[in-house]
Amino acid sequence: MRALGSWEARSSLEPPFQMSHDIADRDCHRTFLFLASRLSRGNALIEESSYRYPVKAGSDLKIDHRVARKLESVLRVMAAKIMMKERPSGEDLGEAISLMVEFVDSYHHAKEERSLFPKVQGVGKEQQKVIYGFLVEHEFGRRAAHRIEQEYALWVKGEEAAVEPLARFILTYADSLKVHTAKEDEWFNLVDGKLLSASQQKEVLERFALIGAESPQTREDFGRRVRRLSKMYLKE
Ligand SMILES: [Fe+2]
Ligand SMILES: [Fe+2]
Repeated sequence: MRALGSWEARSSLEPPFQMSHDIADRDCHRTFLFLASRLSRGNALIEESSYRYPVKAGSDLKIDHRVARKLESVLRVMAAKIMMKERPSGEDLGEAISLMVEFVDSYHHAKEERSLFPKVQGVGKEQQKVIYGFLVEHEFGRRAAHRIEQEYALWVKGEEAAVEPLARFILTYADSLKVHTAKEDEWFNLVDGKLLSASQQKEVLERFALIGAESPQTREDFGRRVRRLSKMYLKE
């Protein structure tokens, strides 16, 4: 049984986001609450019991980043094992690669690229430049992930020539994820504190909920998968 603590117990009573007053259509409202609660139950994956459910977009995305950075730490250990010929389980490495694609790119980057970035782009040219930089880094991450997939396919067949490039691309991906999430975390403070109004925040969060509902898995699901790997490879 999942140990979701107090949130699940009160989820039917308290909507996670402050958004109920001005939604005219009741069915729409009900649908949104369902989607938002699904997204927010995903928030419960974070191990800190002090976690508070975010009502701002940047805070929400920072939670994704915490999961992503845990994955990054796992990837570094896996890369070291590959280089030392210890061979992490091919299944676990395949799982880590799936998480890069399904969680980091399809889920998290979708929230940024389809919701937050378009909203902040309207703020002005300075922010457009910042966002452009983030988009370039997303593309870099996608290409690195693609190269990892290619080398992984050879490595699982036992091809010695894939060992070094596989480890190198994994470390490149991990390094870029670390730098990228650190930069974004700082920018999210500006987004939440200054750049977006309350109504804009609400629109971004509503879109997050829809994107979360499109995902085959919740953030909690992804977090559980990352935790399984971190227990094995980080001994946590
Ligand atoms: Fe990003
Ligand atoms: Fe991000």
